[in-house]
Amino acid sequence: MNRSFGALFTICLWFAGCAELAYQYMNDPSRDSWQKPEEVIEKLAIKPGVRVADLGAGGGYFTWYLAGAVGQEGTVYAVEINETGLSMIKKEMQSRGITNVVPIHADPSNPKLPEPVDLVFSCDAYHHIENRVTYFRSLGRYLKPDGRVAILDFHPHGFVSGLLGHGTAKEEVRREMESAGYLLSADFDLIDGQHFQIFSRKDS
Ligand SMILES: C[S@@+](CC[C@H](N)C(=O)[O-])C[C@H]1O[C@@H](n2cnc3c(N)ncnc32)[C@H](O)[C@@H]1O
Repeated sequence: MNRSFGALFTICLWFAGCAELAYQYMNDPSRDSWQKPEEVIEKLAIKPGVRVADLGAGGGYFTWYLAGAVGQEGTVYAVEINETGLSMIKKEMQSRGITNVVPIHADPSNPKLPEPVDLVFSCDAYHHIENRVTYFRSLGRYLKPDGRVAILDFHPHGFVSGLLGHGTAKEEVRREMESAGYLLSADFDLIDGQHFQIFSRKDS
């Protein structure tokens, strides 16, 4: 799947009310060639046994990579507000026999995590979240003291990301996260068309 065409096609499916098809498209293996999920996971340096939240997990594209990284002793909370995404994740857990993923039906303003996590990872969901400074400030209660927040999102350039608002400027993410109580700890130039930044708590 070409990145720009894929994003446009997914947005069309979404607005046409075809959430399941949109998620299937997001999960298409052809996405791997530009999304580079294995390299993303490597940069996250996840230790086996830790707790990770996949914030805005969608149909689980990154959830399964995260589940592999945390291992059997770890847990991935697949945090989603959309029922269709959550039921796709549940079905996939059954068919793959995955036991270290816990789907969470979140509220738009609250991830409803059952315990503090070591890492909150979010791909292409940041621009969907409303009142982000307030959201991420209160997310602090779900993060361990040395916990990190990794944000991957589209640069707001071009027709799809710019005009349709399907992205956030890297500097905007950084400014908002700093206002919410975080400091930039890593900034990777890994994926064409997307920025990838990791933040730690200011009070850690
Ligand atoms: C573009 S999809 C990305 C899905 C997945 N992360 C991926 O990379 O394939 C964004 C997802 O974020 C979810 N979302 C939006 N706002 C959210 C919120 N406040 N909390 C949790 N999920 C949210 C949407 O329902 C949607 O499934």
